Amino acid sequence: MEKWWKERVVYQIYPRSFQDTNGDGIGDIPGIISRLDELKELGVGIIWLSPVYKSPGADNGYDISDYYDINPRFGTMADMDELFVQAGERDIKIVMDLVINHTSDEHEWFKKSREPDSLYRDYYIWRPGKPGGKPPNNWTSFFQGSTWEFDPKSGEYYLHLFDKKQPDLNYRNPKVIDEVKNIMRFWLNRGAAGFRCDAINLIYKTSLDDGNWSPVVRGLEHYKSQNGAHRILKELRSDVLDNYDCFTVGESHFVDLVDAKLLCDQSRRELDMLFYFEHLEVDRRITKYISKKFKADKLLNVLTKWQQGLEWNAVYLENHNKPRIVSHYGDDSRECWERSAKLLATMLFTLRGTPFIYQGQEIGMTNFDFTSLDELDDIESHNVDKLLKKFCVPSSLRWRWIKESSRDNARTPMQWNSGEGAGFTRGKPWLGINSNYKKINYANQQLKEGSVLNYYKKMIALRAASETLKYGEFAPAYSHRDVIAYTRTMGAEQYVIILNFSMNTEEVPLDAIVESASDGSLPKAKIIMSNTDRTSYDDILSPWEAIVFAFYK
Ligand code: GLC
Ligand code: CA
Repeated sequence: MEKWWKERVVYQIYPRSFQDTNGDGIGDIPGIISRLDELKELGVGIIWLSPVYKSPGADNGYDISDYYDINPRFGTMADMDELFVQAGERDIKIVMDLVINHTSDEHEWFKKSREPDSLYRDYYIWRPGKPGGKPPNNWTSFFQGSTWEFDPKSGEYYLHLFDKKQPDLNYRNPKVIDEVKNIMRFWLNRGAAGFRCDAINLIYKTSLDDGNWSPVVRGLEHYKSQNGAHRILKELRSDVLDNYDCFTVGESHFVDLVDAKLLCDQSRRELDMLFYFEHLEVDRRITKYISKKFKADKLLNVLTKWQQGLEWNAVYLENHNKPRIVSHYGDDSRECWERSAKLLATMLFTLRGTPFIYQGQEIGMTNFDFTSLDELDDIESHNVDKLLKKFCVPSSLRWRWIKESSRDNARTPMQWNSGEGAGFTRGKPWLGINSNYKKINYANQQLKEGSVLNYYKKMIALRAASETLKYGEFAPAYSHRDVIAYTRTMGAEQYVIILNFSMNTEEVPLDAIVESASDGSLPKAKIIMSNTDRTSYDDILSPWEAIVFAFYK
């Protein structure tokens, strides 16, 4: 038997938007508890919980002010303990979000750190400015502008790779590493089964020299995937994680395959899995805001590179930072929405690795339908708008870019039913509910045999029952225009997955994909899953069709 975290499917919960129980319009921990049966029914074995810790909420919890306490908006520590118990009773494990590149500026450490003589000064990265009132270097933040914020009281600047309310911790200080170990032990002892490690390849800053010119973020070469980060990951592993039955998945920015292997090859004893982004960027140019035409063959190349390059993948198509996949690589128009959502599910569960579902993905939730920036909450979207405005980009263009790529696309409340508040809240939701909730919602789909939700259940069950789908070798098999195919092989069993990423009907002869025997005949094939309910194949793929064949040699 392989490791449990390779067998199970993970479901990411963004607590704010999952289920509200007290009518304040914000999802909460009792809400999560109330939905555990739905998750169990779906086939989920692990929950990744986005941050529930105490936080002023500048970046919705990714700015933590107390790692040992729960945000009162979400509930209490007693609720959290109850969540561990209730999930445990259903054999669902919980993985916490470990956000340790930075804290909130409202964390006690940082408040104390503002005093130049404090013992906590060195928990963060403080530097005097350059002559002429300039910041210590030219780095630019992930959330726009300089990475440095001036603190008038102490006359120095502090570093923040993200927002100015998220000061970076100083990983050259061993005390910081000790603090992190304690935080990890605290949550593992309480019941956590591991961590999703936020922005983990950025924690160690080798130098604070000026960065090279870059159209995206300047300074990266001084802190991306540095030796120091590798050393710390090994230390966290051997001193803490190895004492528990748990796993880690790291969110890693701007990694190539070489970096990634160093971070998660098993023999290195750092992370167990990694979130990289390249497979979601095949239709992006330089930044996520600029799009180009989607090409399925490009997607297959990228998938192949990572599927074959890493020992084990974290397979995902959505999270709280990404647009909804059905609006991105699928087609959320009326005719194609359901079928393309199912095609994407077919891909998700037939790639090699641990599959991650983001809340709402299992019912094919789409990008939001807001009409102006005022309706958005995301700190990143607002910062980008400010920056583009400074460069005189007209508001219509600014809005077009932001609308397509805002992280709020994924953060609108979960659509549970067609009642008021979509079953998410009886109050005023913290972020608008997509107006399509009457059509796209959980309750509807639970009743409908051919729904996206039921397709997710079937795909999860199919993967669970198949060693080949879990562990078989991946190989690309075919790509032409918008159609791709790949195989998963284990011993005499081979699965062939064919996906048509388009509105077009495509002719794809099976013998173009599968090698025929010496007598010219094709091996015996059986269709084991299809998003059109077909039972035989006539070499013609319908629009957005996905088929999983099983071959026995
Ligand atoms: C990661 C998170 C993102 C957050 C950022 C800062 O990229 O996924 O949501 O804003 O780190 O913590
Ligand atoms: Ca609430």
